[in-house]
Amino acid sequence: MSKVNKYEAIIKDKYESYTEEERFLSKHQRVEYLTTMKYIEKYLQKGMKIIELGAGTGAYSIELAKKGYDVTAVELVKRNLNVLKQNGKGIKNLHAMQGDALDLTKFADNSFDMVLSFGPMYHLFNEKDKMQAIKEVLRICKNNGIVMFAYLTHASIVWAYGVRNGYIDKLQYAIMDNGAIKDVPEEIFSSYFIEDFKKQFKNLSIKHLKDVATDSLFNEMRDYVDQLSDEKYEMLLDYHFKTCERKDMQGVSSHMLYIGKKL
Ligand SMILES: C[S@@+](CC[C@H](N)C(=O)[O-])C[C@H]1O[C@@H](n2cnc3c(N)ncnc32)[C@H](O)[C@@H]1O
Repeated sequence: MSKVNKYEAIIKDKYESYTEEERFLSKHQRVEYLTTMKYIEKYLQKGMKIIELGAGTGAYSIELAKKGYDVTAVELVKRNLNVLKQNGKGIKNLHAMQGDALDLTKFADNSFDMVLSFGPMYHLFNEKDKMQAIKEVLRICKNNGIVMFAYLTHASIVWAYGVRNGYIDKLQYAIMDNGAIKDVPEEIFSSYFIEDFKKQFKNLSIKHLKDVATDSLFNEMRDYVDQLSDEKYEMLLDYHFKTCERKDMQGVSSHMLYIGKKL
């Protein structure tokens, strides 16, 4: 049990009954993985020590460990951790463990070259916890190390849950006057306006490097994307890679990636 995460039960409830390992199987979902991996590789250097927080069933951690990097994978939910351990069996440079991104005291200050927070920011519901998660990432990252945070946009909640799944009426109570979606722990996901996500880093020791729209409109266009031939999918991916750093794409993307360098 986490000592600090009062929403652990809600998070566990969701992920214990969900096949997280299927997250990147379809064409529309795979875009997020391919884009994120492309940006990880952009900043990777030989011998880097990496930690992934909220490692799920290991899509990134296992792949990076297979490439030879020393990877620590931290995951809150036992079910996901067990799948990760099973899939990563025998990889000596993969260190998988249960843990909470809000409390990384088992890791010393300045101990990783790259810190990937790829899950926790989806499930934090108040300013104090969000800041704690960010500060822990910066604490364990070495100076000049790279930090990456995956997060959800408010638009994704409205278009994927509200429109696509047909719940725009149920969502009304959570839509605030400025169009932001209220943090409601029982709804599982917390989301952001891009400028609000970035504001959190204002007084911290970090240089902002990039904002990346990791799945742009692919989530909303899933029916079309999933039936594309491989050739046409590649063409669309090519367009996506050319535009995923553009502001035009960021606001409508379901998933965003914040990349920074710890100073
Ligand atoms: C959507 S999955 C992402 C998994 C993987 N990192 C990826 O990007 O595909 C989010 C994961 O974060 C985990 N998680 C959520 N809050 C966490 C926390 N505070 N500490 C550690 N893991 C957490 C969840 O249990 C879940 O496995």
